[in-house]
Amino acid sequence: MTSVLVLNGPNLNLLGTRKPEVYGSTSLADVEKMCEQEAGRLGLDLTFRQSNHEGQLIDWIHEAGREVKAGNSIGAVYNPGAHTHTSVALHDAIEGAELPVIELHISNVHKREEFRHHSFISPVARGIVVGFGVLGYPLAINGLHQLFQQGS
Ligand code: DQA
Repeated sequence: MTSVLVLNGPNLNLLGTRKPEVYGSTSLADVEKMCEQEAGRLGLDLTFRQSNHEGQLIDWIHEAGREVKAGNSIGAVYNPGAHTHTSVALHDAIEGAELPVIELHISNVHKREEFRHHSFISPVARGIVVGFGVLGYPLAINGLHQLFQQGS
């Protein structure tokens, strides 16, 4: 069965308790359930991962790129957390692995501090979902699936 990867970067393990006024009160485990449901509806297997470590995320991106090339995966929905605004290494990993990525942010980063307005990930993302709260996760899975089906 074809799969989709949902990848979460630093501090997203704290979802539900970290700044609920910004990120809401849904936990990452509940987000995983929402993603399971959406992936299932689309006939996809879900791989759901979170790490606070840049190197681990890079390794998973490389692995996901190989899975896409092998025809086993449609790509990844990726919330890079604060790495969005800092990491050339993650930009290079996505580009190097040729991984189709939908960049996702729970909050509307453009309404927040100026340091959150720049993303190193956006130039190598296929699409971006911003500011829909945790509902953005199923939306992004759906969008990635539609892009894949269009062959674009
Ligand atoms: C975030 C936005 C980032 O600026 C922040 O560092 C996060 C979460 C979001 O989902 O809104 O950790 O990616």
